[in-house]
Amino acid sequence: MGAPKYHVAPMVDQSELPFRMLCRNHGATCAYTPMLHARIFTQDKKYREEMLTTCTEDRPLFVQFCSNEPQHLLKAARMVEAMGICDAIDINFGCPQRIAKRGGYGAFLMDDLPKVEAMVRGLAQGLRIPVTAKIRIFPDLAKTVEYARMVERAGAWLVAVHGRLREQKDLSATRADWDAIRAVKAALSVPVLANGNIRHLGDVDACLAYTGCDGVLSAEGLLADPALFAPRREPVASGDYAAPPGERLALAAEYLALVAAHPVPLRMVRGHVHKLMWDWLAEHTDLRERINRGVPSLGLFTETVEEVRRRAEAAGRDYPVPAMSAAELAALDKEEARRAAIEEQEREADALDRLQHRRAGGGCGECGGGGEEEEEELVIDWSAMGIE
Ligand SMILES: Cc1cc2nc3c(=O)[nH]c(=O)nc-3n(C[C@H](O)[C@H](O)[C@H](O)COP(=O)(O)O)c2cc1C
Repeated sequence: MGAPKYHVAPMVDQSELPFRMLCRNHGATCAYTPMLHARIFTQDKKYREEMLTTCTEDRPLFVQFCSNEPQHLLKAARMVEAMGICDAIDINFGCPQRIAKRGGYGAFLMDDLPKVEAMVRGLAQGLRIPVTAKIRIFPDLAKTVEYARMVERAGAWLVAVHGRLREQKDLSATRADWDAIRAVKAALSVPVLANGNIRHLGDVDACLAYTGCDGVLSAEGLLADPALFAPRREPVASGDYAAPPGERLALAAEYLALVAAHPVPLRMVRGHVHKLMWDWLAEHTDLRERINRGVPSLGLFTETVEEVRRRAEAAGRDYPVPAMSAAELAALDKEEARRAAIEEQEREADALDRLQHRRAGGGCGECGGGGEEEEEELVIDWSAMGIE
């Protein structure tokens, strides 16, 4: 894999194929898929087809799963391994959201470390490709280091450390703890990636120098500036780390061209268009209304970005003059994030409902059930792997 340093972090509905390709075009050297729910993945063909798309240039690639059922996790991982589309399977031990609490996965597995161990060991012994883990930190440094060591002993080939506690959900409100990441890096022999507060190239250099890590992951920074890893710009002033507006306009157009080549659900596209175009749409509020109220389509998004470009050209400037106050803009941003979070929870609940329906006897026209895909029996010899 060439020891890539610059990683697109896993992001539900946001580290999808066209966005990964956009970031790769601008300096990212590796990428994670969004987290996939292992059980739904094994049982729901529609989910698989919608949630995991890739192309030959989309490498190196880590496919990330969440699960609290080691058997389903291994089965899902084997399905992906058989597709030959990725370089590692990553397990999400970091998701702090309510949806993860309900499912007992992500960061809530920090309360059940034997299960974490079983999940990592199960994949390490049951797959030919490597298993990696993305973890959060505990309040106690020694516990964090011991946790990371355990994950390594269980067979993780690489560990990504998000330097925040499970309780620290508001990312902008808390700085990631690079000291904890540094301590983990010092304690492990496998590669360690640092995650948290990477907003521009200056942060990348500072983080690698401070923590000694082998690479970094960026999430929110890349959403604001997909070209964050491109060595082309002076570090921006603190606080404002979005790419300059003119560049964002060009990046939005490039992203939409990638969506045309690699179609994905429009809710993902909408999220990126809003993130990249927020201040332009705050000037051209008629266009904002149009994409919020119109029937979503790639054509609508593309035409909107093109119209903004035409208007900017006519005005002779490559920056917007927002017609809203900063407070109004922040409120809109919050609302957009809330909408996306609700949609995500509803989607997972729907997918689980669909599975339940099938199991309840199939033949249900509403959910497309009727044994469309029967779950094969899981035949995994856990004792052969030393797992009780
Ligand atoms: C929109 C969004 C979706 C995310 N989805 C996932 C996910 O699917 N899996 C995961 O492990 N972390 C997920 N995260 C967390 C990020 O991968 C990352 O750990 C976190 O944002 C901290 O990095 P940052 O400071 O660079 O934003 C998500 C973050 C964001 C902003």
